[in-house]
Amino acid sequence: MTKEVLGTVVSTIEGPSPSRVDFVVNKGKAHKGMFVELSYSEGTMIAMVDELIKTNRYFERPDSVKTIGEELEKNFPAADWEFLIAKAKPLGVFTDKLIQRSTFPPSPGAKVYVADDEHIKKFLKLDENGMNLGQIQFHDVLMKPNLSKLLQKHLAILAMSGAGKSYCVSVLLEELLSRTDEQGQIAVIAFDTHGEYTCFGEPTKTHTDFSSKTRVIDARNIKLSLAKIPRYLLDKFLSNLTPVQKRELFRIISKLSQEMKSGVGPFNINAIRSEVKELEPKLATALNFALDDLERLNLFGKIDDPSVLEIAKPGQLTVIDLNGLISQKKKQLIVAYFSEKLFNARRQMRVPPFALLVEEAHNFIPESTAAEHALAKSTLRTIAREGRKFCASLILISQRPKRLDVTTLANCNTNIILRITNPNDLDHIKQSSEGVDSNSSSMISSLRVGEAMIMGEAVSAPTFFKVRERTSAPSKHETTLEESAKKFASNKEKQDDEIAAFL
Ligand SMILES: Nc1ncnc2c1ncn2[C@@H]1O[C@H](COP(=O)(O)OP(=O)(O)OP(=O)(O)O)[C@@H](O)[C@H]1O
Ligand SMILES: [Mg+2]
Repeated sequence: MTKEVLGTVVSTIEGPSPSRVDFVVNKGKAHKGMFVELSYSEGTMIAMVDELIKTNRYFERPDSVKTIGEELEKNFPAADWEFLIAKAKPLGVFTDKLIQRSTFPPSPGAKVYVADDEHIKKFLKLDENGMNLGQIQFHDVLMKPNLSKLLQKHLAILAMSGAGKSYCVSVLLEELLSRTDEQGQIAVIAFDTHGEYTCFGEPTKTHTDFSSKTRVIDARNIKLSLAKIPRYLLDKFLSNLTPVQKRELFRIISKLSQEMKSGVGPFNINAIRSEVKELEPKLATALNFALDDLERLNLFGKIDDPSVLEIAKPGQLTVIDLNGLISQKKKQLIVAYFSEKLFNARRQMRVPPFALLVEEAHNFIPESTAAEHALAKSTLRTIAREGRKFCASLILISQRPKRLDVTTLANCNTNIILRITNPNDLDHIKQSSEGVDSNSSSMISSLRVGEAMIMGEAVSAPTFFKVRERTSAPSKHETTLEESAKKFASNKEKQDDEIAAFL
């Protein structure tokens, strides 16, 4: 079947040049974000339409349009003079074997076609065994990036609230959990701030059931081994102690750690209290207050529960549900502690390759905050910098990219960006990623819910796609205002009935 010509390259002030090709659309439809191709002396050029302009010579002069007015269309074939000009950005050129940068322009008059599906797949380096995230807009091609390309150099999913980040993450989790042994399975550990992924752990008959591959841990039940908490974390955590008080506390902890190594076993807060008793009274009182605070958190035990080996298993999703925690500090410590332990365990090859998913990442890796509030920042930054070598990946999710540490964001080599309208956030993304120019940033602000742009390591060029429908059960948080109002009212009715019956 011969392909139908979409348009013809025209000569303008800017081009055709190796970086800009404009064409007039002859037949069919061109859209912003569509891939087109044309053959010329260098090979087959692939380009993306990034602007469309309609022109009509009859309507160019406001004075004549005003004078002749409606008569114009009656007496002249004005509509026949309407043209659609598509402005396209060349992305690369296929030669026999290679995909090269475009370094030479096609000639005016060259015929432009809608890009061939196979060419798009090859050009974007999509993978048949990759992660099916959805469908590329205007083409019958699934957005299936390769797993390593997508995650190994870290992924950031950025968008304003309600644009579909968690939905897109759920689709990604489904893909990760559906992989077979032969395809390679990684462990996924999700720090779930709002309990949006706990639904993966619940058995279901109406949706795809991932409960046998998911472990949900309520963060309220987590215990961290006091003996194993890195000194620097405890130091930041106890920021309101004086240097003298800290020195004494750490001396006691070191002493107990030594004893532990010689066979006494792990220690707890009570063991520290017995040592504190020996100190001079003023110091002892201050330290006891600090220990009271630690005890109230109900977070420290003799050993880790769960252990890193339990949470990082190939093909398993571990959801650490932080939703029930009120203390921000406790959330920070849990994320910091497990990130550090997981990364160390991975460096020693004690756990499988993993992806660490951090929701509301701007709270854990903020651009600027007092150190004691961002306990996990240094570890997550280290993973962003060095994780690639050890196959420890980050998936960072944020609705406030502006507040996310720019160095960490720059280390996320793939970005999936859904709708963002805040100009500060858009500027921040522009700073950290080369793929976003003013054209693509205007496209990002006009995306609808569930539409996304992916760019960076995973694909050869920024590409727009529609996130596919999820097959797992929807998050319980996805109720509408009406639904929850009705639920509240019916619960209240029931309660009133029960009270009436009781009385
Ligand atoms: N690809 C999609 N297909 C269908 N519905 C979608 C899609 N993406 C998002 N939605 C719907 O849009 C709503 C918001 O999505 P989601 O909770 O993922 O947003 P979010 O970006 O995570 O928001 P927040 O920042 O508040 O967490 C949900 O009701 C979800 O069902
Ligand atoms: Mg969300």
